[in-house]
Amino acid sequence: MQNKEDSIQKLRKKLDSCNKCQLSNQVKNKVFGEGNYNSPLILVGEAPGKNEDEQGKPFVGSAGKLLEKLLHNNRLSRKQVFITNIVKCRPPKNRKPNQIEVEACSCMLEKLIKIIEPKIIAPMGNSALEYFLKKTDLKNKVIGEIHGKPIIYEASFGKIILFPLYHPAAAIYNRKLLPIIEEDFKKMIKKL
Ligand code: URA
Repeated sequence: MQNKEDSIQKLRKKLDSCNKCQLSNQVKNKVFGEGNYNSPLILVGEAPGKNEDEQGKPFVGSAGKLLEKLLHNNRLSRKQVFITNIVKCRPPKNRKPNQIEVEACSCMLEKLIKIIEPKIIAPMGNSALEYFLKKTDLKNKVIGEIHGKPIIYEASFGKIILFPLYHPAAAIYNRKLLPIIEEDFKKMIKKL
């Protein structure tokens, strides 16, 4: 049986050489994700943006700063949780990843989840939410309807909690969402 470290390194190498979709040859860096792979919490965004593409790390721009603050308010650092995205390569001009790209990248995300075996997966924003809801009977729900509401989710290794959150970038554009996202984070972290 491989340990988690080995499995993570193997998966990382697989991403380095991945060319399953057209995004892979347009990026500066693929963004695997980072943090603690023994964490009970995985936070999942949509896709890397410009800063993430340049640094090869998830959530390092303004949305990332807010994400760090939300974690910090609950006595957590980004190093204690695992942060990743639905797709690992930046789509041109930050457009939404299309179905082909999401599908091509899904095996990477599924393997990551299987290695980490979190207690909670928190999709942040509608793109990430849509991916996880596909396997539930809540398919057409949007983040505004189900943020902050835990959902029982059948992962490959057993039942876990899906905890939908607004994307931190949404709270930057619409400050009214800030107290809501703060409250949702507090609620989610109590469940860890
Ligand atoms: N937005 C995302 O969805 N992911 C990132 O990594 C950064 C911004």
